[in-house]
Amino acid sequence: TARYLKDYRPSEFTINTIDLTFELDDHKTIVTSEMSVTKKSTTANKLTLDGEQLKLIAVFYNNQALAPSDYQLNDDSLTLSIIDCESTIKIITEIDPVNNTSLEGLFKSGGAFCTQCEAEGFRRITYYLDRPDVMARFTTKVIADKTLYPFLLSNGNKVSSGTLDGNFHYVTWEDPFPKPSYLFAVVAGDFDLLTDSYVTSSGRDVRLEIFVDKGNKDKAHHAMASLKHSMRWDEDTFGLEYDLDIYMIVAVDFFNMGAMENKGLNVFNSKFVLADKETATDTDYFNIEAVIAHEYFHNWTGNRVTCRDWFQLSLKEGLTVFRDQQFSADMHSAAVTRIQNVRVLRSQQFAEDAGPMSHPIRPEKVIEMNNFYTLTVYEKGAEVIRMLHTLVGQEQFKQGIDLYFKRFDGQAVTCEDFINAMADAASIDLTLFKRWYSQSGTPLLTVEENFDEQSKEYTLLVKQTNHPTKDQQVKAALHIPIAIELISECGTKAKLLELKSNSEQWHFNDFKTKPIVGFLAGFSAPVKVNFTQSNNDLATIMTKADDEFLRWDAGQKLYVDTIAKLIADENYQIPLQLIDILAVQLKSDSDLALIAEQFTLPNFHELVEQFKPVNPIVLLNAIEQLKTFIAQGLQDEFLAIYKKHADKIYQNHADAIGERAIKNMALSYLMTLSSYHDIAEQQYANSDNMTDSLASLNSAATNGIAAFDTMMASFEKRWSRTALVMDKWFSLQAAYKGNDVFERLTKLSQHPLFSLKNPNRARSLIGAFTHSNPRFFHCSTGKGYQFLADQICKLNDINPQIASRLITSLIQFKDFDKNRQELMKQQLVRISTLSSLSKDLKEKLDAALS
Ligand code: ARG
Ligand code: ZN
Repeated sequence: TARYLKDYRPSEFTINTIDLTFELDDHKTIVTSEMSVTKKSTTANKLTLDGEQLKLIAVFYNNQALAPSDYQLNDDSLTLSIIDCESTIKIITEIDPVNNTSLEGLFKSGGAFCTQCEAEGFRRITYYLDRPDVMARFTTKVIADKTLYPFLLSNGNKVSSGTLDGNFHYVTWEDPFPKPSYLFAVVAGDFDLLTDSYVTSSGRDVRLEIFVDKGNKDKAHHAMASLKHSMRWDEDTFGLEYDLDIYMIVAVDFFNMGAMENKGLNVFNSKFVLADKETATDTDYFNIEAVIAHEYFHNWTGNRVTCRDWFQLSLKEGLTVFRDQQFSADMHSAAVTRIQNVRVLRSQQFAEDAGPMSHPIRPEKVIEMNNFYTLTVYEKGAEVIRMLHTLVGQEQFKQGIDLYFKRFDGQAVTCEDFINAMADAASIDLTLFKRWYSQSGTPLLTVEENFDEQSKEYTLLVKQTNHPTKDQQVKAALHIPIAIELISECGTKAKLLELKSNSEQWHFNDFKTKPIVGFLAGFSAPVKVNFTQSNNDLATIMTKADDEFLRWDAGQKLYVDTIAKLIADENYQIPLQLIDILAVQLKSDSDLALIAEQFTLPNFHELVEQFKPVNPIVLLNAIEQLKTFIAQGLQDEFLAIYKKHADKIYQNHADAIGERAIKNMALSYLMTLSSYHDIAEQQYANSDNMTDSLASLNSAATNGIAAFDTMMASFEKRWSRTALVMDKWFSLQAAYKGNDVFERLTKLSQHPLFSLKNPNRARSLIGAFTHSNPRFFHCSTGKGYQFLADQICKLNDINPQIASRLITSLIQFKDFDKNRQELMKQQLVRISTLSSLSKDLKEKLDAALS
């Protein structure tokens, strides 16, 4: 059943303290919870606690055992009569971690016990008021076998430990900060431990601990360095310090998401912790640092100040993503970081905004909360915070953050509370701006310009259109900050325009000839732009704009315009002028990673957004035509670049990363020409690092070259015992462009190392096929859709969250031609007839098929 934002009511009860005891066991873990409960409203006399998939053993009210007739037990709740204003409730439950393949609540990952409680997993551990505005002080005693589980961890500080009969031992933890149940965690296992320490700016000595599977300690150093950089950055940038004496990170192989910010005890997908040059790519290194930072930053934006209810998720996620993006931009090239953020929005978030699950960054209706950990809440949410930052500037933004913590430290609050703090600190009116929180969909800006030769006045006219979305028919104008650059013979001028109504014009009088406008510098708002500019204007922006994002984006526009012409007419002759423009870029003195970005064509998914509804094969042909055309036109240059960087020994610093990026960019162009196919094989054979190995394998896969299978056999032999690398192997297989791909997929899904129970592995095969192999996923027989639907049906029983993520590419069927829409819908209908359809899938299917 649906829950609505408008129905929010404060809880009638508070839980002050909870003392938990876990007696860990594979199938029969006993959880004892003792709570002190306060009645907030005198009229309240019934307390309904959330609980799912629990076996209730006993309930005590003020130390008296209750009989079943004293309480009401349902599938998802336990209701007790409460007489006293202050009472104690003790509840004993039994759970089965090994059979918990949903990976929510308490489960086993390999040999270790671990938990995931956000959003509503705590109710799978014990009966509780499982909502973020109920904040209690937790004490946790963990009991387990000493040999199998030498490390017993929970939130806060270790207060006691000891041995027990029968080879058992225990550790008790106390978290001094009241917290909602979603931040609770328990971990028990045998690990290698990497330790370090950090002294905060006010002198607190913090012990840092990273727990990894045995044998992986050497792969945790990058994560540790990233943690220390994050701690320093948050002190320097926002004056925010860590608040406990210990910070623990545990890496596990079975995890639905990237990571989780549990107080003092983060749990991470091992993919975002483990790295060395042989097994992790430059992108992996970057992502590890970003996710470590993200979870660390949550300690303030999420934990110290948390969400009143789950509709407010973007309060912590949008803000924390913005903070991790700023951190990454400071640690690396700001332009390349920004370009990557924008690619995610354009290729995935815009599609979500336009699809059947369209929702504002603060949703108003939720059936399954796990379905709302979305690109909209996270990435668009971060863009909304970024717009605030652009409007008020870094100085006032920091003051807004200060005021937010001054007002709300230790509380569970709303998005509105955050904006009000920002508005008050910066003394600006954000009334209209708040609409970003309640309106879904991507605004479209239409731009017209005029230069009056007589008066020398330049006019820029901007209109915003907010198309109806599935969830919301009526839209209103938004407050949109638009950064521009005006490029003329007297140089480049930057301006910030604020569009606050459906259409506005701006006049500029300081030009002798028509200036060229670079529109949406830094991607100052999460919008689409409809603005026709000539190739000459775009070429000027590419070389003259101050903003590196604008330079890059002008190049992307050139590519999009060319692809549009190729879609309309496959015999369209691409003008050679394009090669001349690109040749200039190739020789520019920008950093090499940025040049590599400039030569990376918009990906298939970004282009679907531009041209939908589109026949995917026609689109793919157009992309390939353009890529081959550029490769032919610049092959000497690409070959020279390739050779210049081919034989360098691996180093892990920005320049070396840039060199690998531009070399592998050149490789990917050369590989579209059959005469260069053997360089992928050579590179694979000579590579001393995963970035280069993967680039060579990738180009072999996507160009369907003959040597692919031999290369992959050697890769498999070398890495069969390294899970994260085998994930890459499965993804490469799934991306292979060859007619036998469906036979391959069948074989791969029966491979001894394949398992739908491991989310990383499931994503590496199924997600990679649907995302990175569009030619076969969209093959006209519908076989690709059928393969995906088959896997989703199996995952529905094993892990509904993963099933629900993977269904995205089917529910967005409206992006494609009518025949494919029908084929995709057939599969959705088939899934919808499953006998035990999870509510995760049901919510999406109902939205897609209605
Ligand atoms: N709060 C976590 C993060 O952003 C993600 C938790 C996701 N949980 C879920 N049920 N989808 O780092
Ligand atoms: Zn987060």
